[in-house]
Amino acid sequence: MATLAVFCSGGGSNLQSIIDNVSSGRIPARIGFVLSNNSVSRALERARKHAIPAIHFSGIHYPGPAAYEQAMLKLLEEHAIDIICLAGYMKLVPAQVIRRYQGKILNIHPALLPKFGGKGMYGIHVHAAVIAAKEKESGATVHFVTEQYDDGPVIVQQCVPVLPGDTAEQLAERVLAVEHAIYPEAILRVVSGKASMPKLN
Ligand code: GAR
Repeated sequence: MATLAVFCSGGGSNLQSIIDNVSSGRIPARIGFVLSNNSVSRALERARKHAIPAIHFSGIHYPGPAAYEQAMLKLLEEHAIDIICLAGYMKLVPAQVIRRYQGKILNIHPALLPKFGGKGMYGIHVHAAVIAAKEKESGATVHFVTEQYDDGPVIVQQCVPVLPGDTAEQLAERVLAVEHAIYPEAILRVVSGKASMPKLN
């Protein structure tokens, strides 16, 4: 059975949907730990509530990027992690970790990538940009993580309408409901071998 690590920065509603789908047996996996760069994130609370190791992991505890990267690799190894799920994780994953876990790191993004991805495009900023661009639809994307930010092969993508007069918060809520459905589905596909990272040049 695969062991997942879930990385979060904020509220952790996607983490909750992953926990629920693992607990119900729909996703045949276990969660080895939940990591957050934010010591007071709600995600860590959610993990503790379900007796999942909740780890505050931050660059401030390491003398530099190399030590930080090595410590993250060690943590993943100690918990025998097979798959990393980024669920509202607002930090860059170090390059060595991406290389070590090629095809085994998933991310969820609150828009229809490749649109509205890249630098500065996270959380509510994404929805504000979608509304400012007068898009008629938005959505959510689960993709494999590569060293190019928000650019890996898509596993699952689903649209939602942008309604007239929508605020960024209203659109975020509509997109989040879709995220909670497609992230477990994407993890299930990867865990069961139905989706895998295509060979990149
Ligand atoms: C989600 O909408 C997720 O797609 C987004 O942050 C939110 C986290 O919500 N991620 C990004 O913007 C990453 N670029 P949650 O903490 O309630 O799961």
